Amino acid sequence: MLRILHSWCLVVCFIILFHYTIQKSTPESSTYVAAVVEYSPQLYKLGNHTDNLLKNAEHYVELMRKAADQSADIIVFPECGLAEYKSSTRYSSTIPDPEDNANPCDDPSLEVHEAVRILSCAARKYEIYVVVNIPEKKISYEKSSQNKSTLYYNSNVIFNRQGQIVARYRKFNLFGELGFSTTEKPDITVFDTDFGVKFGVFTCFDIIFEKPAVTLVKDNGVTDVVFPTAWFSQLPFLSAVQTQVAWAHSMDVNFLGSGYNAPEVGSTGSGIYAGKHGVLTSIMATSPTTAILVATVPKKTTQVKNLQSNTPLTINGFTASGSGIRMSKENLEPYKTFLLTENIQNTTHKLCDDQLCCQFKVKMHTSHKNGYKYRLAVFDGVRSFTYRTGGLQICAVIFCTNDSLTSCGIVSGNPDAFSTTFEYISISGDFRLNGVALSPNTLLKEYNVMSPDDFRFESQQQPEANLVSIKMETTARQTSLLTFGIYGRDFLKDGQSEIIEAKETESREGENSAYFIVSSAGIVISAIATVLFIRALL
Ligand SMILES: *[C@@H]1O[C@H](CO)[C@@H](O)[C@H](O)[C@H]1NC(C)=O
Ligand SMILES: *[C@@H]1O[C@H](CO)[C@@H](O)[C@H](O)[C@H]1NC(C)=O
Ligand SMILES: *[C@@H]1O[C@H](CO)[C@@H](O)[C@H](O)[C@H]1NC(C)=O
Ligand SMILES: *[C@@H]1O[C@H](CO)[C@@H](O)[C@H](O)[C@H]1NC(C)=O
Repeated sequence: MLRILHSWCLVVCFIILFHYTIQKSTPESSTYVAAVVEYSPQLYKLGNHTDNLLKNAEHYVELMRKAADQSADIIVFPECGLAEYKSSTRYSSTIPDPEDNANPCDDPSLEVHEAVRILSCAARKYEIYVVVNIPEKKISYEKSSQNKSTLYYNSNVIFNRQGQIVARYRKFNLFGELGFSTTEKPDITVFDTDFGVKFGVFTCFDIIFEKPAVTLVKDNGVTDVVFPTAWFSQLPFLSAVQTQVAWAHSMDVNFLGSGYNAPEVGSTGSGIYAGKHGVLTSIMATSPTTAILVATVPKKTTQVKNLQSNTPLTINGFTASGSGIRMSKENLEPYKTFLLTENIQNTTHKLCDDQLCCQFKVKMHTSHKNGYKYRLAVFDGVRSFTYRTGGLQICAVIFCTNDSLTSCGIVSGNPDAFSTTFEYISISGDFRLNGVALSPNTLLKEYNVMSPDDFRFESQQQPEANLVSIKMETTARQTSLLTFGIYGRDFLKDGQSEIIEAKETESREGENSAYFIVSSAGIVISAIATVLFIRALL
């Protein structure tokens, strides 16, 4: 009887095992399956919980199950998904050092928050790599006394398919998170997987800076990146998906970006990107949404053949039309710009700022006067990223709602907004070679980005001059353009103070002279009026 039961069990176990093994990617497979979650905590009630971490962890388990149903090897959750900033230090957990090979699901003696145990057990149950962001509490005891101090880190934790903690990353470039500390040096966090891919880890604001993000790829052999974020989108260059796809292109790595969803404060944007081959799947949600995005990702070690894309699986939320995303806008006053007017159908124009000059060629035609206006824009300097400053070298075509520079980067609700057709755009210039990370930056209607098939981005290094010549040009007609340009982050200028001087732009000089004519005419008219008035009095 026991033997029968035993063999029956073996058959069942074999079926279960087989069921999972045929779905898992291996070091030999040319692809793996990735899932990223766009997650809106506000869609979920606290239920019978008094603790955010527990509530969200339970929803995470449900999402892990859905990802496993689609054979995902790895799932990435966003920054702030388990605990929001407001409550971050209140809801937190100690996280064991990955060197300890701790498995919270197995080990009841580990001092971790119950949510960490739930996630570890679910990783094991669904046999999936899991990346979560969690406020980490680190209690340290001073050597000489019994005194203890508590530090908090904004951390990512990675579980393997057995539920073991294999990596931990403490965010280095904080975006004003109150009560949180950073490590003295940036953590260089990588983890290997049983499907033969080595991932690097960083979080949100880190994407703007060189360390640790660029260092992971340049010096640590990382080919794929996991990126939990709670991004605040900014126009015209830094909306969420636009930023993620540009970084993936510039480093040519596979990139799994998972965004916290709160469109009313400007946070949304998740996607899976195949380096220079662009978007596999992405979402910019205009209303509160939880969605799982799944894609088959070609490994960087293999030749890319057919790229598969999947439509996001919306779990909860609406897909309302219109733009419910609160977008912020970069201060573009320091840029040198040139207004493209409707009567200019074929422009060749050179525009310089500081040491950067770009040559623009634009062929366009406009069908409606009230649509977006466009400006050529060049900037070589330092800007503020609210909590830090950083260097930029930019040449781009940007959208504006009217003729003034202050209207650039503001989205219009006008149904005729996209009334300009660009037959061709080409931008070329010599950028600094050392310390500058360059990427193609594109944005279309509804915050989509341009397919890599629709433009070329070519570079040629001149090491003796410390320059790199970049040429970026369209290869297809564009009818819903917002932004098209070369975006360079000049890390060597990071930390310098921004120069707050509004530079005169060529078109503003034009405006000024027009204003001069109008106001001169005004003076003449009022002078005549005064003379007539005085004569009438006499
Ligand atoms: C309360 O939470 C427990 C476990 O966390 C769950 O099993 C139970 O269904 C919940 N009860 C209600 C009424 O939501
Ligand atoms: C321990 O903490 C107490 C209270 O914060 C402080 O007065 C004391 O000096 C500390 N002792 C040491 C050895 O740091
Ligand atoms: C645009 O300008 C180029 C030279 O600048 C010229 O060769 C070309 O014919 C022009 N095209 C149109 C449509 O005007
Ligand atoms: C242009 O747009 C800006 C920003 O929306 C607005 O403040 C300004 O009044 C507009 N100017 C004109 C001339 O309509």
